[in-house]
Amino acid sequence: MAKVIDGKAYAEGLRGRIAKAVTGLKSAHGLTPGLAVVLVGEDPASKVYVANKAKQTVEVGMNSWEHKLPAETPEADVLALVEKLNNDPAVHGILVQLPLPKHIDSMKVLTAISPAKDVDGFHVVNVGKLSTGQDSLVPCTPVGSVMLAKDVLGKLDGLEAVVIGRSNIVGKPVAQLLLAENCTVTIAHSRTKDLPGVVRRADLVIAAVGRPEMVKGDWLKPGATVIDVGINRIERDGKGKLVGDCDYASCEKVAGAITPVPGGVGPMTIACLLYNTVKAACAAKGIAQPEM
Ligand code: GUN
Repeated sequence: MAKVIDGKAYAEGLRGRIAKAVTGLKSAHGLTPGLAVVLVGEDPASKVYVANKAKQTVEVGMNSWEHKLPAETPEADVLALVEKLNNDPAVHGILVQLPLPKHIDSMKVLTAISPAKDVDGFHVVNVGKLSTGQDSLVPCTPVGSVMLAKDVLGKLDGLEAVVIGRSNIVGKPVAQLLLAENCTVTIAHSRTKDLPGVVRRADLVIAAVGRPEMVKGDWLKPGATVIDVGINRIERDGKGKLVGDCDYASCEKVAGAITPVPGGVGPMTIACLLYNTVKAACAAKGIAQPEM
């Protein structure tokens, strides 16, 4: 049976270190990092995420602002709000919750965020810096996924890593991070030929394809480490249930270590967002980033 990777515990530890760093920044530099979150519309999952972000931001001692706009808000108004936040020196991080309503061009909004405040790491400037090996704000779920992989495996040098999924939010950036850790990286996706055969090569599997329980235990090399990024709501036996992109029951029999859903990668995302906000605040103030 696989070792269960406890992302909830790891994230709690990280948040504790962030809270300590924030206390230090306040006393030594009079700096309180601040995060502004923008939510447009009523998507129920997004509302839950945004509420959790705000709660945890305050818990680590940072300033938090929530901007909730109606679904029909014109694109120009969202862009104007982003510009206002760009110019507010108390705001060190700006996060616009995705998905945005269909009449709003997400890429246009993400590109309007100042790269220095882009704590999601989605701005093309930060994407470009990540892919050219420069220091940047890095997307939160990918960083959290790699932290968990390193926590179990130590160094990732030379490992065969297979990423399933090619999204801008997870698949592509996590592949870049693994490359920077000296993995041999394959990006597979829903159209990959013989996906089970490709996954079977992997020492490290990152599943971020958004299909409930797609990866089966017999796709895995025995002993592989499995990081399951998927969060899918399904109905089973008449009840709602959260499942990952991996079929946990069969995968845990073959994997060496595996993240559960919930309680694996999920809690790492917000912790890494708080980390990025501290990083952005220190850079804005021109001071060294504390150990976290
Ligand atoms: N929606 C789902 N995940 C994310 C995320 O990491 N950042 C933002 N901004 N929106 C999301």
